[in-house]
Amino acid sequence: MPLLSSKVILEKAQKEGYGVGAFNFNNLEFLQAIIEAAKELKAPVILQVSEGGIKYMGLSFLEGIAREVLPEVDVPLALHLDHGSSFDVIVSAIRVGFTSVMIDASKKPFDENVRITREVVKVAHAVGVSVEAELGKIMGTEEHISVAESEAVFTDPDEAVRFVELTEVDSLAVAIGTAHGIYKGEPKLDFDRLSDIRKKVEVPLVLHGASGLPLEDVRKAISLGICKINIDTDLRVAFREKLEEVLIAKRGEIDPRKFLGPAKEAVRSVVMEKIKAFGSERRAW
Ligand code: 13P
Repeated sequence: MPLLSSKVILEKAQKEGYGVGAFNFNNLEFLQAIIEAAKELKAPVILQVSEGGIKYMGLSFLEGIAREVLPEVDVPLALHLDHGSSFDVIVSAIRVGFTSVMIDASKKPFDENVRITREVVKVAHAVGVSVEAELGKIMGTEEHISVAESEAVFTDPDEAVRFVELTEVDSLAVAIGTAHGIYKGEPKLDFDRLSDIRKKVEVPLVLHGASGLPLEDVRKAISLGICKINIDTDLRVAFREKLEEVLIAKRGEIDPRKFLGPAKEAVRSVVMEKIKAFGSERRAW
């Protein structure tokens, strides 16, 4: 089926009360692992690539994936740019077939975030691409984006209402206590804030930094209105651990399929576990 925008995938999830996994990939093994898990469980998923991922894989490789590989997959998929930092990167992603983009101007003052996001929305909507933006500052490090704990700012529900009205974004990433990367202490989510945002804001809400969270917390967040759940670190950890185990067990092995294959399987298992926990199994249409 053709690639869909995240808006189409997330609005259905919002209506029916389940969460959709948005999984990052940087290479063939992760991409295959995510697609295979989605197909096996008949689940809609969002495949996402950061700016660092674009640099690593190259735009023409991603164009081939967007135009040739993904439309052959028979579950609902979107190809999403994660944490786009500039208008130029966003336009180049849209040109090669991304169906969804995030503009992350969350470090800028409110009015500036609105202005930049609004500009992206105008261009993206003209070609049917959906837009995610972020309000508040999510702590931790995701590729080139880094926010210290002391700089983190939770999303203000009333500002969120104004932000969505002014920008007309399709989904909103909220800062409610999650962090990108590996958690140092026990994560504590502000569920009351999330409920308050949900009551006031109509668009699907996005949870960044969902790796390492107890699955009950994620399920609770979904029940309170989160529709898109971003997972990167948990996949990296699974891949790395399995790869290391196999390389140590099979010293001298030089066929990459013999060590990358099991690492890919480990990623597939984690993706399947998340899909089941988010309630998106058998939700493909
Ligand atoms: P984690 O790396 O913590 O899973 O976060 C992923 C993310 O939010 C991507 O935007």
